[in-house]
Amino acid sequence: MGSMSAVVVAVLCAFAMHAGLLVTTAQLDPTFYDDTCPDLYDTVFDVISNASLTDPRIGASLLRLHFHDCFVQGCDASVLLNSTDTIDSEQGAIGNINSIRGLDVVNDIKTAVEDSCPGTVSCADILAIAAEVGSVLGGGPSWDVLLGRRDSLNANLTLANQSLPSPFFTLDLLKASFAAQGLNTTDLVTLSGAHTFGRARCSVFNNRLSNFNNTGNPDPTLNTTYLAILSGICPQNATVVNITNLDLTTPDQFDNNYYSNLQQLNGLLQSDQELFSTPGADTVDLVNSFSSDQSVFFDNFIASIIKMGNIGVLTGTDGEIRTQCNFVNSENSGLLLAGVASNDSKEKLVAQSK
Ligand code: HEM
Ligand SMILES: *[C@@H]1O[C@H](CO)[C@@H](O)[C@H](O)[C@H]1NC(C)=O
Ligand SMILES: *[C@@H]1O[C@H](CO)[C@@H](O)[C@H](O)[C@H]1NC(C)=O
Ligand SMILES: *[C@@H]1O[C@H](CO)[C@@H](O)[C@H](O)[C@H]1NC(C)=O
Ligand SMILES: *[C@@H]1O[C@H](CO)[C@@H](O)[C@H](O)[C@H]1NC(C)=O
Ligand SMILES: *[C@@H]1O[C@H](CO)[C@@H](O)[C@H](O)[C@H]1NC(C)=O
Ligand SMILES: *[C@@H]1O[C@H](CO)[C@@H](O)[C@H](O)[C@H]1NC(C)=O
Ligand SMILES: *[C@@H]1O[C@H](CO)[C@@H](O)[C@H](O)[C@H]1NC(C)=O
Ligand SMILES: *[C@@H]1O[C@H](CO)[C@@H](O)[C@H](O)[C@H]1NC(C)=O
Ligand SMILES: *[C@@H]1O[C@H](CO)[C@@H](O)[C@H](O)[C@H]1NC(C)=O
Ligand SMILES: *[C@@H]1O[C@H](CO)[C@@H](O)[C@H](O)[C@H]1NC(C)=O
Repeated sequence: MGSMSAVVVAVLCAFAMHAGLLVTTAQLDPTFYDDTCPDLYDTVFDVISNASLTDPRIGASLLRLHFHDCFVQGCDASVLLNSTDTIDSEQGAIGNINSIRGLDVVNDIKTAVEDSCPGTVSCADILAIAAEVGSVLGGGPSWDVLLGRRDSLNANLTLANQSLPSPFFTLDLLKASFAAQGLNTTDLVTLSGAHTFGRARCSVFNNRLSNFNNTGNPDPTLNTTYLAILSGICPQNATVVNITNLDLTTPDQFDNNYYSNLQQLNGLLQSDQELFSTPGADTVDLVNSFSSDQSVFFDNFIASIIKMGNIGVLTGTDGEIRTQCNFVNSENSGLLLAGVASNDSKEKLVAQSK
């Protein structure tokens, strides 16, 4: 290598390290809105708490939304953007379509927050707070949510298709999916514990019920009693989209039963059971330890969800604070202007923010 190219490499490395440093030191802060929106947490909590009275699943759905936001170009509320001329919504991604929930509740939260603190709080931060509230309402851990994220100006459907892990992934693929986000094996086992509540559709686990992996038999790591129950819920060639609880013991509680379920071969998704049933895997000890001590699980969950919440955040003057979470401001104000001339668009806009 010539000395000139060696210098170029050295400079590039220094730049890369510097850039890396900038990313990791882009500081979020739990007190970020203390002066500008002091009642933010209570506002978010009240809307979700009210919604949970009629929809006990909403806390789980909101926690998942934060995950699906963070895994696709960082926690920037890109998942909330609807399709327009310039945006291919991530909501059409294989992991999101007919699956993510809570978008209307997020809009309700945003409306309430805009009421008291206009133009101040990002949709990405609302998702991060909503995830914590979801955990708390389920009886799970609470933590100081780091804040100061800003909202993206774009979305990336291609990236969403690539980045959201599949329930049919083997342990190696799950680890790789998390590693791509800077999350390690402990984070994988810990964050999978979010499947302690919420629901799943037959289509994401019926691969296990018969002819698993082309063996002609059900998944051997699926408890046979549970197999019989699930086969009843998900008959072959069913025309109805049935759903069932991710945690068969305490469906709406955020607790450590997810891990004791895995020990009894009662994980719902293949990707769940892999954590315990993959021969010789380094994840088994973690499952056992979380199963035997809920506070160890909760402590790890707090560390890992905060780590997840830091992925690829926009801060400072990057991105924007969206006015309406489903649209970037330039397109939203376009609609507002159009609304002056046309009742149609205006009504549409009002309907959107409901
Ligand atoms: C490890 C890889 C993961 C895979 C393969 C995976 C896959 C899935 C699937 C297939 C569903 C059911 C969706 C449906 O049928 O509509 C689901 C639900 C859910 N996931 Fe995950 N997930 C993973 C990790 C996570 C993480 C890291 C979190 C949050 C920290 C999370 C939180 C949830 C929650 C709370 C639900 C229930 C949502 C509801 O009831 O609306 N998942 N997941
Ligand atoms: C509470 O929830 C109900 C039903 O989801 C909704 O109609 C009502 O507007 C909500 N009230 C408040 C104060 O958010
Ligand atoms: C992403 O996946 C969805 C659902 O499978 C598919 O309809 C869409 O064409 C994919 N888009 C891209 C850009 O990969
Ligand atoms: C979207 O993601 C794809 C796949 O990772 C990447 O190649 C592309 O550059 C991204 N597009 C934008 C606009 O960031
Ligand atoms: C599925 O079968 C292939 C070989 O046909 C094997 O390599 C793979 O590990 C199996 N997957 C699971 C989850 O059992
Ligand atoms: C489901 O449909 C397939 C193909 O249409 C058929 O071969 C199979 O017998 C059906 N299974 C049941 C249980 O009806
Ligand atoms: C699931 O769907 C089938 C029809 O496809 C229905 O007969 C069955 O009762 C449903 N089971 C549950 C538990 O919802
Ligand atoms: C299957 O699950 C039941 C409880 O649902 C449990 O008693 C039994 O031990 C489990 N079987 C295996 C092989 O783990
Ligand atoms: C994984 O990351 C956590 C922080 O979330 C750290 O405490 C732990 O040491 C890491 N584990 C491994 C095996 O690298
Ligand atoms: C808007 O709608 C109202 C009644 O709904 C109608 O009276 C008015 O003419 C409409 N304005 C335009 C610009 O279409
Ligand atoms: C945005 O998309 C969601 C579904 O992905 C839909 O329910 C909602 O009505 C859309 N909002 C607007 C304003 O089009």
